[in-house]
Amino acid sequence: MTTTVPTTPYQDQKPGTSGLRKKVPHFQQPNYIENFVQAIFDSLTGFEGQTLVVGGDGRFYNREVIQIVLRMAAANGFGRVLVGQGGILSTPAASNVIRKYGAFGGIILSASHNPGGPTEDFGIKYNTGNGGPAPESVTDAIYARTKVIDAYKIVTAPDVDIDVIGETFVEGMSVQVIDSVADYAALMETLFDFPAIRDLIGGGFRVVFDAMSAVTGPYALEIIGRRLGAGEDAIFNAVPLPDFGGHHPDPNLVHAHDLYQRMMAADAPDFGAASDGDGDRNLIIGKHIFVTPSDSLAMLAANAHLAPGYAAGLVGIARSMPTSGAADRVAEKLGIPLFETPTGWKFFGNLLDAGMATICGEESAGTGSDHVREKDGLWAVLLWLNILAKRVESVKAIAEAHWATYGRNYYARHDYEAIDTAAADALMAELRGKLATLPGTRIAGLEVASADDFAYTDPVDGSVSAKQGVRIGFVGGSRVVFRLSGTGTSGATLRVYIERYEPAGGDLAQETPQALAPLIAAAEAVADIVRHTGRTMPDIVT
Ligand code: G1P
Ligand code: ZN
Repeated sequence: MTTTVPTTPYQDQKPGTSGLRKKVPHFQQPNYIENFVQAIFDSLTGFEGQTLVVGGDGRFYNREVIQIVLRMAAANGFGRVLVGQGGILSTPAASNVIRKYGAFGGIILSASHNPGGPTEDFGIKYNTGNGGPAPESVTDAIYARTKVIDAYKIVTAPDVDIDVIGETFVEGMSVQVIDSVADYAALMETLFDFPAIRDLIGGGFRVVFDAMSAVTGPYALEIIGRRLGAGEDAIFNAVPLPDFGGHHPDPNLVHAHDLYQRMMAADAPDFGAASDGDGDRNLIIGKHIFVTPSDSLAMLAANAHLAPGYAAGLVGIARSMPTSGAADRVAEKLGIPLFETPTGWKFFGNLLDAGMATICGEESAGTGSDHVREKDGLWAVLLWLNILAKRVESVKAIAEAHWATYGRNYYARHDYEAIDTAAADALMAELRGKLATLPGTRIAGLEVASADDFAYTDPVDGSVSAKQGVRIGFVGGSRVVFRLSGTGTSGATLRVYIERYEPAGGDLAQETPQALAPLIAAAEAVADIVRHTGRTMPDIVT
């Protein structure tokens, strides 16, 4: 039986960089989930009888929300819902399922790399029929709807057993619980040379993967452990836990420190990797070398033709604005376009749909291609393994050869977390206020060549996204970029992106902190970070 339940709106349901993210208790307020889900459905038309995909990263509250979504999807007229077994679908796997089964769209439950648990983070986002995050036009409509919503529709029905593969019905709507991994693994087999990777690993090449007690455990066990023959012991923290074992499932040098240590040890394996809470991010560490995400994007693009799925070459490369310019040089050499987009995977969707870009990446450990419409952690790992199998060289040798050819973009991101929102806004406002006067002046001894607030005009639909980050370029090609995070859940997070280009033939073997020291000083001088935030050091350097 369908009931229309009266509700009162919440004013804070604005989706951020990647959907609505809040602490679990916030989501547990009366009707908070119901309002948001109904606002999604109210913002869409034409889904009557169509398919919806639902899944998440397995974090605390995932199962409860899935049951709510099932009852509301039935009440709102969907014909079928595909659910990952146990409620598990990595974000890229969900994108694949949406595309493969021609679904109308999908609801993905995740707060990505943020911690999980009863008082930690939860998130919910809507993806459209192309498998990608809803564009701003849709998220704006959802937000507008949440502010005035006065009722939601739900059926009365018992919980669906989402642990058993098979079909059941909720008030006439089909619910199909599907294997979380099978479709994704099949897709990976079409893109990469599995026999070659299997031979590499069979020949003694040692691979380790840290699933961080998050969603990629089952995927990595099946693909890397079984199909590629690395064995189950090669996968650490392989069981998804509702609280990720109390850790931040964020694959960076801070939160994947154990993996990093292991890869720097004398007897390190040849290749180490990790992925985040929902499986869309990646960390790549070769024996004795960490590959920055920006470099990884460039190196993957330069070598992608070695994988069967990309043998025909790339049509274009896209990167988010704060991502280093390393990929630009590869695009130039390949004679293909390079697109610079705002932060957030949703901005790549149009380029991928229009066949203008094949490979995309962000400095925040996100890389992916046109095989789905999300970034894809395991995809990046498998492309690296495919390249390593074909080149039969170490990660270090490949990286050094790359820098010798293209030059090296020394790069770091400094995050100042949970700072006072008003202070963060003031810092950005002051910076924006002086942009026009900066070119030609010197900051901490460096001459400013350009200063602006990044605005993007989508080349496909003409939509404009303004105020996407302050960038200050210096003579010689170095730069610093400032923006506030759109995914945080407490206070504001200031991100400072620092990049210095060293041409081929220059000093390519410096330590990154030393190479960037003058720019770090310039960033402080121009933004007055200490004065505004009271912080003398970033919380996280990646
Ligand atoms: C962060 C990253 C961004 C990524 C997003 C979702 O967003 O910087 O590249 O797309 O998470 O994973 P931010 O918090 O900076 O808005
Ligand atoms: Zn993620």
